[in-house]
Amino acid sequence: MCGIVGYIGNRQAAPLLLEGLSRLEYRGYDSAGICVANGELHVEKAKGRLQNLAEKTQNGALLPGTLGIGHTRWATHGQPNDVNSHPHLSENGKVAIVHNGIIENYLELREYLEAKGIRFTSETDSEVVAQLLEVCMQETGTVMDALYMVLHRISGAYALGIISADEPDVMYAARKDAPLLIGFGAGENFIASDVTALVRHTRDVVYLEDGEVAAVSRGGVQIYNAMGQPIEKEHHHIDWEISAAEKGGYEHFMLKEIMEEPEALRRAISPRIREGRVVFDGMQMDLSGYARIMIIACGSSYHVGMVGKYNIEKLCRIPVEVILASEFRYCDPIIDEKTLAVVISQSGETLDTMAALREAKRRGAKILSIVNVVGSSIARESDEVIYTYAGPEIAVATTKAYSTQMAVLDLLAIHLAGLRGTIDEAQYRSFVDAAARIPEQVSEILNDRDRIQYYASLYFNHDSVFFIGRNLDYALGLEGSLKLKEISYIHSEAYASGELKHGTISLIEPGTLVVALGTYTPLFEKAMSNVIEVKARGANVLALTTASNCAEMEKRVDAILSIPDTELPLLPLLGVVPLQLFAYYVALQRGCDIDKPRNLAKSVTVE
Ligand code: F6R
Repeated sequence: MCGIVGYIGNRQAAPLLLEGLSRLEYRGYDSAGICVANGELHVEKAKGRLQNLAEKTQNGALLPGTLGIGHTRWATHGQPNDVNSHPHLSENGKVAIVHNGIIENYLELREYLEAKGIRFTSETDSEVVAQLLEVCMQETGTVMDALYMVLHRISGAYALGIISADEPDVMYAARKDAPLLIGFGAGENFIASDVTALVRHTRDVVYLEDGEVAAVSRGGVQIYNAMGQPIEKEHHHIDWEISAAEKGGYEHFMLKEIMEEPEALRRAISPRIREGRVVFDGMQMDLSGYARIMIIACGSSYHVGMVGKYNIEKLCRIPVEVILASEFRYCDPIIDEKTLAVVISQSGETLDTMAALREAKRRGAKILSIVNVVGSSIARESDEVIYTYAGPEIAVATTKAYSTQMAVLDLLAIHLAGLRGTIDEAQYRSFVDAAARIPEQVSEILNDRDRIQYYASLYFNHDSVFFIGRNLDYALGLEGSLKLKEISYIHSEAYASGELKHGTISLIEPGTLVVALGTYTPLFEKAMSNVIEVKARGANVLALTTASNCAEMEKRVDAILSIPDTELPLLPLLGVVPLQLFAYYVALQRGCDIDKPRNLAKSVTVE
């Protein structure tokens, strides 16, 4: 999705803006632009990769000045081109803005401004902010007062960065429903939509909340609430290493992040196991009284929720509903005070998930979120948050964040089962011990990646793939299938194996690739029957099972992958790793843009 960076200080702004934007490339974009103040406002934009903008500006040298804003745009309103990309200037060229989000009433505002004789240059919703600022400034004389007038007139979601030729010593920022933060330096300050853009320059940040406005100058920052009153905000320290957001010798971030899974899982699991018990330090929420759980998420995070449903229902005997955030928002959900809403989001900024969280809260649910990005909007608005500690995830397709979300949800299921007394002490101990061994077992799977690469080289040419499995293997198949389709562009579907003969089996013909998941031991025999069923129709079967069932499965299939044995609820934590690697190597073989698949964005901050 779109990215914002802004700088004010004593260094040249343009090279810093370009560098900051390059850190946001992973979020997905189709054009970029920067604006630097130097007496007047100078704007350069370029369609396509940031490299085009760097070349056009000679790495920023053509835009001298120490105050500027930059943007990577992911087109929503209007084609990706030089006109529609940001920054947008007001008609008199005095104000420049960058905007993430959507101005919902832009058509009405555009008509109003056009009636006043303002001429628009782009098709975007964002340009109305620049034009309206200019008009309001004629009344107020200052950007700050005009900005408050504008914020009262626009509806929708926004993170805004604003500079004006008339105020060369200040940059403004405002936020509602789209992330924005301020970075504090010495004699220089920054704004950004994502901390990765700033971390090379400062680790001292403040997250803006909805309705807040910041006036950022070289020597300091003043933040105001929605009523325009000055406020003090808590500073956060970013403690992850810069190297965590660099490739470190790997060809792709995705492979690097898969290889980081043992360490990420260790960070997610180890601090939560003490003396054989699951502990969530600092948790205030009393988890014992809930009669029902609703898990709300999107995409891969939703797939984690599916695993959670099977595990929580089995271990804790509480009904669990997993619901896509985009559906939850509009389905008039039935919620009472006995419902716990578990919201899962890597970025903590997904707009649908955020809106669903607010809706659940409005209806009286308590919110427990599982989030990777510390200080993100979802984390801040939840009653309780459990962080996954996966570290920054740059590849658009999630891997280590998915795995750590699942690890945390598994620990939560074990913890809840312990609280409710629905598993006995021996089972509890055994689950906890098995959870502690997971990082090591994931390392074992990673050591066998050459075999997975070999299978990818056999199967990368297929047009269509089916993932089948039952129970936890079905939930696992959903993720395996999404991973493959999003980065390799192979059409792929996941089915509960029992559903095959209710329709899908008609698609199986000689040569069709079926990835048969048979890790869930209690249903292994059923998995075998489904393998036999699709083999009989000529499918090529790549199976995934546990070490103890490998020999049995191997007799029936064309290719086999196995994972170490573990306790049943934890199987998908291991099972997903070969599927992530398979997707990666297939995409590599097909020459795809693995870290930035077409049309996708890392954090989906529009509906
Ligand atoms: C797929 C993927 C997406 C995200 C989804 C939710 O690889 O990464 O499906 O899982 O967009 O994102 P978060 O977890 O940030 O809310």
